[in-house]
Amino acid sequence: MKQKIVIGNWKNYLDVHETLELATKISNEEIQDNIKLMISPCNLYLNKVNQILKETSVEVIGQNITSYESSSDTGGVTAIGLKNIGVNRSIIGHSEVRKRNKTFKSEDILKQIIPAKFNFVLCFETIEQIPFNILNNDFEIILAYEPVWAIGTGETASIEHINEIHSLVKAELLGLNLEIPVLYGGSVNPNNSNEILTQELVDGVLVGGASTKYEDLHKIINSI
Ligand code: PGA
Repeated sequence: MKQKIVIGNWKNYLDVHETLELATKISNEEIQDNIKLMISPCNLYLNKVNQILKETSVEVIGQNITSYESSSDTGGVTAIGLKNIGVNRSIIGHSEVRKRNKTFKSEDILKQIIPAKFNFVLCFETIEQIPFNILNNDFEIILAYEPVWAIGTGETASIEHINEIHSLVKAELLGLNLEIPVLYGGSVNPNNSNEILTQELVDGVLVGGASTKYEDLHKIINSI
């Protein structure tokens, strides 16, 4: 089986001590070659977590970007700022970001970061939210299907539903000659991770709540 991607999105679940403790435990974890683990801690602790994990195969990524490079972006997170601390990828368009900003359009930020080849994980709730025409294979783009009703609710999408959406997205990508991994996110946990991760059409999972508990994350990354 090809390598699968597991992203742990810690959102704002953990305080500073819990964050550093979990990052330290993960730094001692033996990660099999069939898993590429990425961790997305709260911005406040991004730099520290990156330092803890920098000698490992685990990649530390941002949770959001508000501009590529803008000095007048109060409270924002720039891609350049992330690069400055050695973070070279970010989640974009998570449903919690879309909820906070009703006028959010991923194109606005993607048009800034795609020319700069800044790696990203674009979350989408509906296929219409994917701007296929501006994607390319010049650097690492990842897509993540996250149905809003499955996020943080314990209600995972059915395997049939996941496969249906993933096959539509993959058909569209194939038509454009694009090779872009498509992940699933929404209430992934140690009980369902094996079934989801072993689907041919699923290139990995984006995990929220369960990724903040060491035992659960350990089980998920060892479930295939
Ligand atoms: P969840 O969150 O795994 O807690 O449902 C997923 C996400 O928000 O990325």
